[in-house]
Amino acid sequence: MAVHADLIVSGAAEALTFREDGPGLLRDAALAARAGTLVWVGQTRDAATAVELLPGAVQIDAVGHVLLPGLVDCHSHFLYGGDRAAEFALRCEGATYLEIAAAGGGIQATVDATTAMGFADLVALGVRRAGRLLAQGVTTTEAKSGYGLSVDGELRLLRAIREVGKATALEVHPTLLGLHAVPRGAERSRFVDEVIRDLIPRAAEEGVARQFDAFLEQGAFSPAEVERAAVAAREAGFALRLHCDQLSPGGGAELAAELGAVSADHLEHVSPAGIRALAASGTSAVLAPVATLAAQAGRFAPFRDLARAGATVALCSNWNPGSAPTDNVWLSVGLACLSYGIAPWEALRAFCTGGARVLGQVARLGRLAEGFEADFALYSASDHRHLASHWGVNHVAQVFKKGKRVSQGPAECR
Ligand code: NIG
Repeated sequence: MAVHADLIVSGAAEALTFREDGPGLLRDAALAARAGTLVWVGQTRDAATAVELLPGAVQIDAVGHVLLPGLVDCHSHFLYGGDRAAEFALRCEGATYLEIAAAGGGIQATVDATTAMGFADLVALGVRRAGRLLAQGVTTTEAKSGYGLSVDGELRLLRAIREVGKATALEVHPTLLGLHAVPRGAERSRFVDEVIRDLIPRAAEEGVARQFDAFLEQGAFSPAEVERAAVAAREAGFALRLHCDQLSPGGGAELAAELGAVSADHLEHVSPAGIRALAASGTSAVLAPVATLAAQAGRFAPFRDLARAGATVALCSNWNPGSAPTDNVWLSVGLACLSYGIAPWEALRAFCTGGARVLGQVARLGRLAEGFEADFALYSASDHRHLASHWGVNHVAQVFKKGKRVSQGPAECR
């Protein structure tokens, strides 16, 4: 029996559905949706018998386009004030990320610039940035705090993130990045105590975030500090994330696995034991190739080793003003292919289903399949590999969130 639909997209040169454990490549692809949910995905030649259009249904001609699920950017710090262009220049001339942070720049500089912004301006900036993400095919993103570094500052940023989510079609998942840096002039153990005693309970009570994150690194927080805060956050009901093994090996993947975290992020310096621990625990590995370059991590994370061991790997932009100062998600896709030695479909799957898993949305986002949300984008290309190989270029033609067109891309650019 035919399914009823209020939206049909047909004639796409290719779709990557990620329905099975592979690309789920469909040629001459079509999909149909009703009330924001996919009700049918298949080949155009079967659409006439499989789908009955409701009166007023929207019909989209996708000939000459690639169809992909909406990207899910599961690691992002996209709401911040100011920029750190001067630090970028210093790093290009040889200063390291940690030296700049130790001299009072880095995250602390962004805390100052973010704190100086009024709430309404912060929200307006976030809404503009959300538009830039939608325009690239990102339909869901995480947004971390971490640029407040005080109870009030962190809660203010999380409330601003919540307002951005309400004001835009982009689905925004806020994360409390409670341990990002020790605030200037603060005594570190007192700061960790304050996060545990005040920030975590207040954020839990207000319901402003579902995940808790911490930065385990030399110059940031120690395994013992991270563990103490993470256990408190877990008890308060937060799912856990860890920034770890990014600039130096720190046993972070092992700790993330032991804590039952949903992800361990960065992992350029993950150990073989850490890889095994992630695979055994089901903790996802989240990789951020742009940050590998911009923060001079020294080597790219071992995507293949992680995947071969059985770990789930997600790819992200890690958009932030320091280690990944770009909103260009297509740079991450192309760079992932080149630096990890993976196929374009693997990078895209990591950016769709991988991201959805980390945000706890794998049953509704990241795939083109019946019952999933009608989040997808059409790209001006007839081969999905073009999107990764013509890298850093936005090929989006149209973007849909819950079955509604929310963005149109720039002029065709092949
Ligand atoms: O994911 N490593 C820590 N946090 C960010 C960088 C934040 C910043 O430099 O402002 C990251 O790389």
